[in-house]
Amino acid sequence: MAPYTLKWGILATGGIAQTFSKDLLADPSARGADDVHHEIVAAASSSSASRAAEFLKDVGAGPDAKAYGSYAELVVDPNVDIIYVATPHSHHFQNAMLALEVGNKHVLCEKAFTVTAAQVRKLVATARAKNLFLMEAVWTRYFPLSIQVRELVKSGAIGTVYRVVADNSFNSNADSTAASILHFPDSNRMVNPDLAGGALLDLGIYSLTWLFQILYHLQSEDEGEKEAPQVVAAINKYARTGADESTTVVLQFPGHRSQGIGMTSLRVGTGVGSAQKSGPAILIQGSDGEIQVMGPAFKPLAYRVIKKSEEKSADQIPWIDVPIPADKRPGATWAGHGMFWEADEAARCLRDGKKESATLPLSESIVIMETMEEALRQGGIVYPEVITTDVFDKNSPLNTGKA
Ligand SMILES: NC(=O)c1ccc[n+]([C@@H]2O[C@H](COP(=O)([O-])OP(=O)(O)OC[C@H]3O[C@@H](n4cnc5c(N)ncnc54)[C@H](OP(=O)(O)O)[C@@H]3O)[C@@H](O)[C@H]2O)c1
Repeated sequence: MAPYTLKWGILATGGIAQTFSKDLLADPSARGADDVHHEIVAAASSSSASRAAEFLKDVGAGPDAKAYGSYAELVVDPNVDIIYVATPHSHHFQNAMLALEVGNKHVLCEKAFTVTAAQVRKLVATARAKNLFLMEAVWTRYFPLSIQVRELVKSGAIGTVYRVVADNSFNSNADSTAASILHFPDSNRMVNPDLAGGALLDLGIYSLTWLFQILYHLQSEDEGEKEAPQVVAAINKYARTGADESTTVVLQFPGHRSQGIGMTSLRVGTGVGSAQKSGPAILIQGSDGEIQVMGPAFKPLAYRVIKKSEEKSADQIPWIDVPIPADKRPGATWAGHGMFWEADEAARCLRDGKKESATLPLSESIVIMETMEEALRQGGIVYPEVITTDVFDKNSPLNTGKA
């Protein structure tokens, strides 16, 4: 049977749009995905159509792909099935609403989904009212390693899980002579409040991904409605811009006697500076043992299971590698980044008539955004109104590129 083809429109042309688009065009058979196929049929840049054309050429889209100089033109292209929103998180609500509301398009939106929980709720309500597919692009959830680890936990391999500790931190310190203390200029989206900058929404979301995919997502369906966490947060602010630079979030699930500790920082890195240098970034701790996952938390490729009954010491227990497959096309050098798995999920959902992904349901994205909002509130982090409003405006500067 011919594979199901999904036709993508890429909204924005920055770093992650490039990586994701190259993954979309990597040969699906190299990862054993013969049932789906992706095409990039259009892209838009808020700066100019020529920038979009350059982007399409760089990522290897075909000559027929359309280049637009505005997001508004992209979302009404009748050849596009789904829009991938790849702007800074400050823009996600307005840009995703533009696609849903004006373009009647399905949407895959980069993380963090939005800036506020009310914004996610509105996106979800709009997608449901219009019977459109919507998904938060947390690629980590679709990694084969994440799937294996969730299956292991579900099977009781380490007993009942009572605690998950996860870190996703980058050592971003500049030398002391630099103008900024961190190596980003103050205008950079990592630390700029106008772009919803800060460690939690950018990096901490991956620590929370591990907490949520084990302690929340795997709660038994027989229990009825899932237990949302109580949230306690500690935040250090980046004095130059007011963004959060080091944030720790404790999630408490009293009904399950479980806790999660999610850490993120721009001051110190997981494993010194590079996640591969030292020990695991994630510990999943159960009554009968522990699963350790090597970082980086967003791109997990190795784990091991240490059982309480195990005779060997931890350093004798080998890591299990779950590598990203190499692209087998003749002459190809692009091995892929691992973002194709979330794209495959979107394609399969649409093929099967599903309007959301069971691996990251929209109700769960809402609880995650509520958690981050509460943590930021406790830390006194405030973002400007133009990026926190949940009133859609197709002429918002965030949609017209005049922000
Ligand atoms: N899943 C992942 O692993 C991953 C990794 C990195 C980032 N992300 C997420 O992806 C999103 C984009 O991150 P990125 O690293 O790709 O950022 P980036 O390189 O700065 O690109 C963002 C793009 O958004 C567009 N844009 C529109 N208005 C903008 C404004 N006022 N300031 C800056 N850019 C503006 C620009 O494209 P045009 O000029 O063409 O419109 C720009 O190139 C963020 O939400 C981030 O959290 C995800």
